[in-house]
Amino acid sequence: MSARLHAIGQARIEAEPAFLHDLGLVESHAWALLESGATDRRSPCHAPSVATLSDDGPQVRTVTLRHVDRVSAALRFNADARGGLVNQLMADPRAAVHMYHAAQKTQLRLRTQAMLHRSDALALATWQATDPSAKRCYLVPPPGSPAGAPASGLPTALERRRPRDDESDAGFVHFCVVELKIAAIEWLHLHAIHKRRARFELREGRWQGTWLTP
Ligand SMILES: Cc1cc2nc3c(=O)[nH]c(=O)nc-3n(C[C@H](O)[C@H](O)[C@H](O)COP(=O)(O)O)c2cc1C
Repeated sequence: MSARLHAIGQARIEAEPAFLHDLGLVESHAWALLESGATDRRSPCHAPSVATLSDDGPQVRTVTLRHVDRVSAALRFNADARGGLVNQLMADPRAAVHMYHAAQKTQLRLRTQAMLHRSDALALATWQATDPSAKRCYLVPPPGSPAGAPASGLPTALERRRPRDDESDAGFVHFCVVELKIAAIEWLHLHAIHKRRARFELREGRWQGTWLTP
């Protein structure tokens, strides 16, 4: 990212990001952060929060970002189809996504619409590419159901070892790829000196950006 040197008082010299004055660069910055969430396990964007609507009001939880595609404006993560998250999206596909990258001093908020993939080609391909120890998570009783005692929910035999494919494949019936189609991205950069906010909305296939007051 290109930068101009920016003098702060006499003592401190800071790099001023070029995106402070360029909406196109802001859009690229937002997508770069999003994409890092799918490709870099150490990125804070790897574990965004996803909010849904339920009969009890809004619900929010952490998920693990698996895939981000700028061209189709979509992101993906995996979930248990029996859990509150998927059930809430079946009732109302609207979802909000939040992530904060502290080193980049940037918050992203996404407005999205969910498409749920169960037992389709995408779900099968994703399942086949999933590590057996992660597949194991789909062998538990329904997530959120009473456990009666402290428990992982895993079959005892699989608590401490990787399942074989034939053991973990029983979980596929509960496996859901959640695809969130991104309709709007709100980007907020809160630096001590310079602050900016911008929104990008997908209208008739084109992203339209606008600066906002932070
Ligand atoms: C670091 C982290 C990553 C997580 N990743 C996922 C995920 O990718 N998919 C998922 O369904 N739950 C994930 N969870 C668990 C959810 O936060 C949540 O507990 C679970 O989805 C049940 O929530 P629900 O009752 O709203 O369905 C993750 C939790 C943590 C702490």
